[in-house]
Amino acid sequence: MKPLAVLSVASEVFPLVKTGGLGDVVGALPAALAHEGVAVRTLVPGYPAVLAAIPHPDVVYALPRLFGGAARLLAGRAGELDLLALDAPHLYGRPGNPYLGPDGREWPDNALRFAALARAAAELGRGAVPAFHPDIVHAHDWQAGLAPAFLHYGTGPHARTVMTVHNLAFQGQFPHELLAKLGLPTRAFAVDGVEYYGSIGYLKAGLALADRITTVSPTYAGEIRTPELGMGLDGLLRTRAPVLSGILNGIDDSVWNPATDPLLPAAFDARQLPRRGANKSALQARFGLAPDPGALLFGVVSRLTWQKGMDLLHEALPAIDRAHAQLVVLGAGDKPLEHAFTAAAAHRRGRMATLIGYDEALAHLVQAGSDALLLPSRFEPCGLTQLCALRYGSLPVVARVGGLADTVIDANEMALAASAGTGIVFSPVSRETLEIAIDRTAALWKTPVVWRRVQVRAMSTDVGWTRPAKRYAALYRDLVAHDPA
Ligand code: ADP
Ligand code: GLC
Repeated sequence: MKPLAVLSVASEVFPLVKTGGLGDVVGALPAALAHEGVAVRTLVPGYPAVLAAIPHPDVVYALPRLFGGAARLLAGRAGELDLLALDAPHLYGRPGNPYLGPDGREWPDNALRFAALARAAAELGRGAVPAFHPDIVHAHDWQAGLAPAFLHYGTGPHARTVMTVHNLAFQGQFPHELLAKLGLPTRAFAVDGVEYYGSIGYLKAGLALADRITTVSPTYAGEIRTPELGMGLDGLLRTRAPVLSGILNGIDDSVWNPATDPLLPAAFDARQLPRRGANKSALQARFGLAPDPGALLFGVVSRLTWQKGMDLLHEALPAIDRAHAQLVVLGAGDKPLEHAFTAAAAHRRGRMATLIGYDEALAHLVQAGSDALLLPSRFEPCGLTQLCALRYGSLPVVARVGGLADTVIDANEMALAASAGTGIVFSPVSRETLEIAIDRTAALWKTPVVWRRVQVRAMSTDVGWTRPAKRYAALYRDLVAHDPA
């Protein structure tokens, strides 16, 4: 089979820049796709952390005037990643969070910062760098959403396009006055173009104009076609249903593997489950919880936001108290939720602890040391932490939405009788149903033999990238075969 060349375009890439699952996915897909005969180059903004990762880059292209400054495309390898960094100091030469300034607010020029990324992608998609002719430009989330638009409204042959939605809640909407500055023609400001309720919608543009649309789970691909979860874009997504599909995320085996994880006090696998106990002890010690191996220990690794249902969890804490269970919360996000969880922990010393912050290493310990991981999300395009939980033998307790519904099998009575079930799944999402799910988890905990069986099944769930990568490769090949440039 002819190898395919793909340009993946995103605002985050693990391990260099990450604020959530987007970075993980963009960082892991290239290695997985290499096994499928797909060569991926990843285009990201040249943030300081990205430039530092490619200290001796090749300068492959110049964009002398890109929204108020000179820019260059730099190529280099960082680990397994074949990177293209858009070096534009006037847009990206700012340390810290990729979207927010030091005051915690969006950078005022984000419209231009991410239009620039898309512009560079489109030039590459039109063959600007002779040594690299991508067959496909694959845009991730709103930050790359204008790439299909720049390709569509430009001239000459160009690569096919795929738009992947990681989260429909973030859409990138900017004033329509920007149109000329972006270099888009007047006719682009139309319902079948970049126009979105009188503004310019970056994600909307990608959804309207890409050749194919994917999202990160089959269930979310259906949900976003409904008014309830379509976030204003469901009408468009219904018309584009023939080219819309869902491909589940995986997790990177080289980062998330309990048998080899250097961040754990004790490595383990499904055949050496007793070794897991050392991680639970370490987690209890680290968070100042009572050192009780018999207490059911719930974990949370999450953004503390409405999407993740963290307000519901806060309301449901009495169910955890009733079960005499323990809880560790590792997360950051909305200030009121951060305060609420910190205060709740102060009232439950030795039984509950909250750590506000973002700590990659500690996330591994929570996965390896907790008995169950709580994810009461109101919507969840895919979710990665439940996949980590499955692999690390922490039973996921999840709302039946999006990717959570697609990856966790409820251990109800009939499932258990049929030797199935990998976690606890509840719906609809509410405080009450979450409390019931916590009660069910506590009941299961009382029968260690059954718990152990569910845990072993969870750990053998296929959560890697091999299967999803085959699906992306098939999609790319189908696109190139049926819709040639
Ligand atoms: P989302 O991208 O919506 O936040 P995902 O489940 O797809 O949700 O991805 C979240 C990623 O961020 C996972 O890799 C998870 O381990 C990580 N993560 C989330 N919160 C924290 C935190 N407070 N500390 C460390 N890692 C975190
Ligand atoms: C988004 C979603 C999350 C998904 C991640 C990676 O951040 O909220 O569900 O797993 O993207 O695709």
